[in-house]
Amino acid sequence: MCGIIGYIGQKPANEVIFDGLTRLEYRGYDSAGISVVDENKIHVCKDIGKLRNIRGLLLNDFGSKSPIGIGHTRWATHGRPSAFNAHPHSDCDNTLMVAHNGIIENFMSLKKKLRSEGHKFVSETDSEVLAHLIESHYRGDLGNAVINALKEVKGAYAIAVIHREHPDKIICARKESPLIVGIGEGENFVASDVTAILSYTRKVVYLDNLEAAEVTREGIEFFTLEGEAVKKTPTQVDWNPVAAEKGGYSHFMLKEIYEQPQVIRNTIGGRTSEEEGKIYLDELGLTGPEIYKAQRIVVVACGTAYYAGCVGKYLIEKLVKVPVECDLASEFRYREPLVDQNSLVIAISQSGETADTLAAVREAKIRGAKVLGIVNAKESSLTREVDGLVYIHAGPEIGVASTKAYIAMVTALTLLALMLGKIRSVLSPEYVQETIRELKVIPQQIERVLDKHEQIKEFASHFMDSRSFLFLGRGINYPSALEGALKLKEISYIHAEAYAAGEMKHGPIALIDHELPVMALATESNVYDKTISNLKEVQARSGKIIAIATEGDKAIYQLTQDVIEVPKVSEILSPIINVVPLQLFAYYVADLRGLDVDQPRNLAKSVTVE
Ligand code: G6P
Repeated sequence: MCGIIGYIGQKPANEVIFDGLTRLEYRGYDSAGISVVDENKIHVCKDIGKLRNIRGLLLNDFGSKSPIGIGHTRWATHGRPSAFNAHPHSDCDNTLMVAHNGIIENFMSLKKKLRSEGHKFVSETDSEVLAHLIESHYRGDLGNAVINALKEVKGAYAIAVIHREHPDKIICARKESPLIVGIGEGENFVASDVTAILSYTRKVVYLDNLEAAEVTREGIEFFTLEGEAVKKTPTQVDWNPVAAEKGGYSHFMLKEIYEQPQVIRNTIGGRTSEEEGKIYLDELGLTGPEIYKAQRIVVVACGTAYYAGCVGKYLIEKLVKVPVECDLASEFRYREPLVDQNSLVIAISQSGETADTLAAVREAKIRGAKVLGIVNAKESSLTREVDGLVYIHAGPEIGVASTKAYIAMVTALTLLALMLGKIRSVLSPEYVQETIRELKVIPQQIERVLDKHEQIKEFASHFMDSRSFLFLGRGINYPSALEGALKLKEISYIHAEAYAAGEMKHGPIALIDHELPVMALATESNVYDKTISNLKEVQARSGKIIAIATEGDKAIYQLTQDVIEVPKVSEILSPIINVVPLQLFAYYVADLRGLDVDQPRNLAKSVTVE
C-alpha cells in the first residue's frame, strides 16, 4: 500500500525522504518518487522499481539539496506501475506537487471537468486530479486551495502538497487514510505512518479524519477541512522499528485484522457508481462472450482463498443465476475437469504464486476455458497467466493466517457478481445502487465489531483449553464457518471442524457433550429459524454454544449467554462482517496459549510447491 513522507528542516530533503521511504518498504510498492522545492522551482524524480534499484536517481542524480520536499511509494491501483503514474504528481505548469494515498472515487468526473477547463493530464491515476484541482483553486494561499479542492473530492485520501511559491511549508490533509505529523528540532515531518520517521523523532501528532496541517520548519498549525483551527497534543511513540512495522500491534495478524475496514474501502474504491447503479472493474480484461455469456463458472483456489470462492458461489448463483462449482485447485488439476470454451474459470489467490492454483489454471486453459484471476499480489505469476484480472487491493499480508485478503476476496467477488448480474439483466439498477450504498458502510460496521475485542478475548480465555471445536453455519455463512474453523486450527493447533448446520444430525451430533464448544453463525437470514432449530439440538445435548448473532436478537439468549452481536446487514454481505469475530477469536485463543501467531508451525504463507 502506498506510503508518504514529507520533510522540512535543515538537511537535504531527498536524503531524509529516501531513508523514510525505505522504512515504508514493508507496505509493498512498485514505484517511488521524490519532489522538492528549490529556489522557487520544483524538482522531481520518480521511477518504477524497488528503491535499491532507483537509489542512484533519487540520491546521486537528484540535483538539489533543498531542505523541503515530499516523497511517495506507490502500490498501483488506478493505472499500471510506471514512471508517469508514480507520485508525486504535478499540475499543468509544475507549480505544485501532490503525494496521495487512498482512492479518489469521483476522479473520472473531476478529470472530465478539469480537462474541459484546459488542464492537461499525463498519468492514468486518480491522484493526478488532486494536483489540477488544487491548481484550479489556487489564489496565492496554498492551505485554502487545498481545502477548497478537497471539498470537491469524494473518496479516501492522505495527501502532502508543496508549491514553488511556498518553499517554507508543506500542506497535508486526510480523510480515512492515515496521516501523521512528526515534530523535530528545527525540522518537521509528514508521514503515512510513524515507521518512516522514527529515526528522526518520536514526537508525533495523529491527524484525525477531515483534518489538515500547515507544516513549516518552526511549527505546525492544525485546522479542519472547514478551515477552523484545532489544537492537537503530540504523543511520544516508544516503539522499536519492528513494533513500528506492526503499527504498534503485537502481531501482524492483529494489525491486518484491524486494517480490514480500510482494505474494503480500497477494494471497492473507484469501482462503483452509486448514481448509475454500476460496477467498474476496469482491469478485468475479459470482455464479450467469455465472461458475460459463460454457461458455467468454476472457482479454483486453495486454503482461505477457496473458502472465499465458496462464498462467491452463493453470491454468483444468487445474483447472476449461473451455476458455479467450487473446486480445490489440487483436486481440479488431476480429475479431468469438465470445463470447455463455454466455461469461465475464476482462480483466486492472495499470493498469485500457489503451485496448485497455477497448475489448475493451466489445466483449464488447455481445455479451452477463459480464466479470470482474483489476486492480491501485483505482477505475480498468476496475473501473467490469466485472461482477465480483478485485483483485490488488500496490500501486503504478512501473517501466515490470511485475514484481510479473505475479506478483500469476498468483497471483490461481491462486486463481480453485482456487475455480472446487472449486465445479464438479473439485477435492477436500484438493487445494485442499494447494495453499493450498503457496501460503503460495511467498513464502519466492521469497526464496531472490532470494538468488541475485549468481549471476544474474554470468550477466548474461557475456551482456550478446549480440545476440539465445532463451527456451524448455513447458506452463505457455511463458508464463514469453514474459514473460522481453519483460522482456529491454523494458529491455535486446536482441532476445529466446520459443518453445514443442517448436516450436523448426520454425524457430528454424536460428538456433542458438555465439553464441546460450538461456534454458531446465527445472524439474520432466510435460514435463521432453521439454524436456531439446529442449535436447540446442541443445547439439548449440553453443548456449549458461542453465537454470532445480529444486534438486538433477544431470542438467541435463550440458547446461550455467549453471544457476539454484529451489525445487521443484508444476507449477501453478512460473510464480510461475520468472519471478523471468528478471526479475532482465533487470534486471542492462539495468543493466550502463547503461540507464534504470525508464523504457525508447519505452515507457509505462499505454497509454491505441490
Ligand atoms: C497457504 C496459506 C493460506 C492460503 C493458501 C492459499 O496454505 O497458508 O493462508 O490461504 O496458501 O494461498 P493463496 O496465496 O493462493 O491465496
